[in-house]
Amino acid sequence: DHDMNILKAEIERDDLKKAVALWRERNKFQGILYPTEHGYKAAKDGEVEIKKLAKTLAEARIRDKKCQPVGICSENYEHDSHSLTGDSKDERARLNAAKFEAYHEIDSRKPEDKVLKFRVTCVRNGTHCFGSQDAAYHVGGRLQDMFHWIVDLNFYDIEIMLNVREDSMYYGIALTKESKHRRNINFFGPTTLRATICYNMLRLAQPKAGDIIIDPMCGGGSIPIEGSLAFHSSYFMCGDIHEKAVNRTRSNLDHIESHTQRRYMDVLHWDTTHLILRDSSVDICVTDLPFGKRSGSVFDNRTLYKQVLLELARVVRCNIGRAILLTYDRKSMTMALTFAAGLWKLVKKLKINIGGLEAGVYVLWRLKAPAALPQRVPKTRHRKSGRHSVLSSEKRNLSCTLWVLRRPTTGSNSESGATTVGPDRRRKRTSTTMMPTPTNTIVSELDTYGHVYGSGMKPYPIYSEAVTTL
Ligand SMILES: C[S@@+](CC[C@H](N)C(=O)[O-])C[C@H]1O[C@@H](n2cnc3c(N)ncnc32)[C@H](O)[C@@H]1O
Repeated sequence: DHDMNILKAEIERDDLKKAVALWRERNKFQGILYPTEHGYKAAKDGEVEIKKLAKTLAEARIRDKKCQPVGICSENYEHDSHSLTGDSKDERARLNAAKFEAYHEIDSRKPEDKVLKFRVTCVRNGTHCFGSQDAAYHVGGRLQDMFHWIVDLNFYDIEIMLNVREDSMYYGIALTKESKHRRNINFFGPTTLRATICYNMLRLAQPKAGDIIIDPMCGGGSIPIEGSLAFHSSYFMCGDIHEKAVNRTRSNLDHIESHTQRRYMDVLHWDTTHLILRDSSVDICVTDLPFGKRSGSVFDNRTLYKQVLLELARVVRCNIGRAILLTYDRKSMTMALTFAAGLWKLVKKLKINIGGLEAGVYVLWRLKAPAALPQRVPKTRHRKSGRHSVLSSEKRNLSCTLWVLRRPTTGSNSESGATTVGPDRRRKRTSTTMMPTPTNTIVSELDTYGHVYGSGMKPYPIYSEAVTTL
């Protein structure tokens, strides 16, 4: 009772009337906002009458539709009337849609004669001595007493949102009738993050014009896609270790780009522990790490998270760079943060509900460059088999030759440089590489003498050459 009284007292504040006035302006609501008690009763009676008629009409229509293909209405009547109780989810949805249609057909009142209809929805997180429905019921009752609004759970005009988080609460007014969390994504994967969460993670990073932002573990690309649409003046780049995820991101991106004819960002196939990016070249990293449930495993996370923090410290700019990381595996993250304590400062940690899982969002700032980055992450062994974890396996050193090639001038094409890396040609002298050609279509060959050939082109002479270790 004590908690309910607090919730009810909060809704009585004057701010609500101001918010409702703004809502009215935005939604162009023409009806009666604050009716008298008499006006409320008359409107409610009218509403009940229209709903009764709409229900009868909707049920009759559904029965008619069902009868049509069979042709013998009486034989199917019993079965149909049973189904109209709305037992299954599909049937209920069908019935509601039909009722909605019938309601608007029957309702002949002018918009300015209608009394505001409302519902209260409670979103609750934490342990409380009341349920969400109890809270919505009591707050709804209080609103009805105060303003004489009509309760309507389906055909409401305004939805009051009551958000209870642990020991705090706030009210809001829903601006849309549908959640926007599925916006912009067409190809969903097993771990696709809600667009609303992506947006808020990006906001935590406070992107500025010209910032280079990466999501190194992008999955289906929900974070960079949301970012490139919301923060136009930043440049987004993303990648994933799984080719399927990279393809899904490309499909999502293609879908948006086909509508807008604009190029939004770049997608690469990479491993976050060995990013193909220069040192201190990135301003912000926003990513959703594998939780170790649907993606990866908690065991692998112990090593992976440390490697990720180390590699991100290399590519993110010192002093001004920041990283916003989301994970459910908070233990692995705490261990990784302790490991990389000299590189990252934890400035904020937020709790977040991801489909019922209590995850954490970590806001990190890149510290000043230390004299040397920490040594490689120690190897983690599988306890039983004694095998090395794939993620913790040692890097193999490959001796390679780096060729800098000069593109010969052909026709009107201007001269340009190209760089390629292949195995050390003193050991093995052949390699295949993709080079842009005048027609942009042909795979060029690096021959045994180190010359690169493209279709109908002169060989690329070697400009310089160096042996390097990768
Ligand atoms: C939680 S999911 C990301 C989901 C994504 N935010 C979305 O909305 O689709 C984590 C992703 O990290 C990727 N991943 C795991 N290890 C990686 C690594 N070493 N390098 C790059 N990506 C990796 C997985 O393939 C997976 O797609």
